[in-house]
Amino acid sequence: MKNRVIVTGGAGYIGSHTAVELAQSGYTPVLLDNFSNSTPAALDGLREILGFEPEFEQVDCADKSALFAAMEHIASRGTVEGIIHFAAFKAVGESTQEPLKYYANNVASTVHLLEAAAHFNLTEFVFSSSCTVYGQPEHIPVDEEAPIRRAESPYGYTKQACERILADFCASGYPMKAALLRYFNPIGAHPSSKIGELPLGHPNNLIPYLTQAAAGLRDPLTVFGNDYPTPDGTCIRDYIHVMDLARAHVAALQWLKNQPPTCEPFNLGTGQGNSVLEVIQAFERATGVAVPHAIGARRPGDVTAIFADATKAQNVLGWTSEKTLEEALLDAWNWQQALNN
Ligand code: UFG
Repeated sequence: MKNRVIVTGGAGYIGSHTAVELAQSGYTPVLLDNFSNSTPAALDGLREILGFEPEFEQVDCADKSALFAAMEHIASRGTVEGIIHFAAFKAVGESTQEPLKYYANNVASTVHLLEAAAHFNLTEFVFSSSCTVYGQPEHIPVDEEAPIRRAESPYGYTKQACERILADFCASGYPMKAALLRYFNPIGAHPSSKIGELPLGHPNNLIPYLTQAAAGLRDPLTVFGNDYPTPDGTCIRDYIHVMDLARAHVAALQWLKNQPPTCEPFNLGTGQGNSVLEVIQAFERATGVAVPHAIGARRPGDVTAIFADATKAQNVLGWTSEKTLEEALLDAWNWQQALNN
């Protein structure tokens, strides 16, 4: 097995799609997951896409001794090139209700993984961060020079904290090379519909709720507010296809390989902002399926508008998003239909 890369949260939404891109780029993904917000079915889908059984360890990265035991086991089977760290809780609303759960899991996992990296002499680390670190941005599009602002939620603070922990560790003398990947809004699914986003319970994010509402599985979609200072009054986000996002992780790993110790942030988005109503219209165009929806109240904590200036990722990593909003929405819909079946 060559170029083995540890993928924490490997059964999760972005982790599983990144495992596909890694395998297609000559890496061997080694997946870690505790199924706290994913299911073993993702591994079945992955196996079908990859054509082989990926290496997998069921482990909670916040449990230091369990993590070290898993790492020991992985190391005994061959060398490891680097770590991509996805494993984290990510529901903004839940994080305001259960902040300690978020700090305990998201921060502890990152600290323990860095301790493990140092113990096993691993020096390449890609961190799954979020544009949430920018809070309510002053200027859009947002580039990496934008100030880190007051986070809107405990979830957001965990991303800011983990970025800081990584930066401090990189500056501590250990020869760590880290890329902080700040995602905008990942959507869509692998075009095979064998893996995709699997929100357990009531979906909080727009696209899983929208596809479930369109499939008749949920009440009509509530558009959270149409009185924002945007052209149609609804919030604007930068929706990026998860396969484009997955490709960026491979680009980051390849870039890190030839770097001196560093800790660099990169925005990953399309550079295009779309309102909630525009997303509904794009979905209807792409699929021919109507989205039952109604305008509701604003959701607390939502920023009005945010989209990426991803020029740095293009210039430094040679990465740019390729898929359109319609392609992403069609893939999300095909995945929803595969789930229904
Ligand atoms: N929305 C609705 N109705 C819904 C769900 C969402 O109108 O049922 C709207 C939201 O108000 C927002 C947009 O759709 O305007 C996107 O909402 P999501 O919940 O899908 O995504 P967010 O932009 O709120 O959150 C995303 C990530 C977080 C990250 C945040 C940073 O999910 O991890 O971006 O801005 F922290």
